[in-house]
Amino acid sequence: ARLPPEVNRAVYVRNLPFNISSEEMFDIFGKYGALRQVRIGNTKETRGTAYVVYEDIYDAKNAVDHLSGFNVANRYLICLYYNPQRMNKRQQNDLAKKQQEIKDLQERYGVDGQSDK
Ligand code: ADE
Repeated sequence: ARLPPEVNRAVYVRNLPFNISSEEMFDIFGKYGALRQVRIGNTKETRGTAYVVYEDIYDAKNAVDHLSGFNVANRYLICLYYNPQRMNKRQQNDLAKKQQEIKDLQERYGVDGQSDK
């Protein structure tokens, strides 16, 4: 079955309790499939948000379908597919910097880890 283009293995979650733990995140989101990573916002601007990345895009879709509006500690979760264009300038900048660092490392060492030097 084909998926709409906005569907993504990465899910952006909002309206989380500020004190949510990564164990709780794995309990809630891991119910829908294996998770590659969970990143909980820990700055003033990102508290209450998280990125949850599934191994399988169909699991991500199932999670968004079932967990949008899910009640956690009297709050209703907002689950959106990750969309880099929706990130703020600061986040876009940090992401671009990290991507450049990875590119530099790949050029220095080779993408397969075999160095020419
Ligand atoms: N910031 C706001 N909305 C977003 C989204 N859908 N994906 C990533 N970052 C976001």
